[in-house]
Amino acid sequence: MPTLLLLNMAVLTFWLPVVHPCYVAIHPEETAVEFGGSVNLNCTFSCTNYTNMKWEAPLKHVNLKGVGWISLSIASVTEWSLEPICEVKGESMQHLAKAVTYVYQFSTPDIYLASEVVDGRSQSITCNVSSLRVGDSIPPNINISLTRGGKILNSTHGYPSAAYSFVANFQQDDGSEILCMASVQVGSEVLEKSVNRTLRIVASPYNVSVSTKVRTYKAGAHIVVTCNAKGKPSPEFSWDLPCKDGVEFSDNSKTVTIRSAESFHNGTYRCLAHNRYGKSLAEVDILFEDKSRSWITALVVVSLLAVVFIAGLFWYHCRK
Ligand SMILES: *[C@@H]1O[C@H](CO)[C@@H](O)[C@H](O)[C@H]1NC(C)=O
Ligand SMILES: *[C@@H]1O[C@H](CO)[C@@H](O)[C@H](O)[C@H]1NC(C)=O
Ligand SMILES: *[C@@H]1O[C@H](CO)[C@@H](O)[C@H](O)[C@H]1NC(C)=O
Repeated sequence: MPTLLLLNMAVLTFWLPVVHPCYVAIHPEETAVEFGGSVNLNCTFSCTNYTNMKWEAPLKHVNLKGVGWISLSIASVTEWSLEPICEVKGESMQHLAKAVTYVYQFSTPDIYLASEVVDGRSQSITCNVSSLRVGDSIPPNINISLTRGGKILNSTHGYPSAAYSFVANFQQDDGSEILCMASVQVGSEVLEKSVNRTLRIVASPYNVSVSTKVRTYKAGAHIVVTCNAKGKPSPEFSWDLPCKDGVEFSDNSKTVTIRSAESFHNGTYRCLAHNRYGKSLAEVDILFEDKSRSWITALVVVSLLAVVFIAGLFWYHCRK
């Protein structure tokens, strides 16, 4: 260790008469170790004039050593308070250093949500750190934040849980990511754990509409009426029709087809969209136009035109 040598030389040159140059150091000086987890520490002594160097630790451990150092490995820390001591002894001298360890338990946060989040209903999201402990106490410096798409919904300090209440909006919230982040101070370290959940919203049918190209028809017309609706799960359809004769249902009853319409197909076509969260309806009137009546109208118009024309002809002849 050239740096140590230099240090020794410097110390010998300038400090020897005043200060004892030998000291014990532990690396890392401070450790956060999870309960049940492992820890590795190294102890060094700045001088070589010692006779014994050892670790005093309560749990089963393994040591490795060389000149001026000894390491300590504990495979499983199962005590809440752990203060290993590194001891160096020599002729008429003894040096001690105590390792600072923080044994902690910090579980990954959990997000709690209603099993079904229904559009339009008020809901709450809770994030909770179920086990949290540092040594013998609950650490006071814990922060929890709930965010959606980078936007903070709620955050707490000093408490292992955070909640957010909202009215579920299918179009806005379905599929959005909820992130819960917990950070806790253990010694001088800040530990962080997070979890995310995708928000799934269910919705009763909405935006229900009935569409058709035919609003008035004559006998024999081909009529197609379609019902559209949004919702989750996808809505199913049922119909209230003027007459079911000659009516075909297709596309899971989304579409109604009449190949050759008759007068009794005149009336209101009402579609009911439903799923297990609710129902909604829409309707359209499709009106029958009496073919014979329109034919008579045409005949009357043509006759009138003929009369006017003939009258015009007579008038022209009479003037001559
Ligand atoms: C918690 O938040 C406060 C305020 O923002 C901050 O000063 C503190 O360092 C945070 N603590 C942890 C453990 O993240
Ligand atoms: C559904 O209906 C709402 C009003 O109820 C409207 O704001 C929205 O644009 C409609 N969505 C679609 C896709 O038509
Ligand atoms: C067709 O149905 C409408 C109501 O939807 C009704 O007002 C009208 O009288 C009906 N016309 C015929 C010819 O049945």
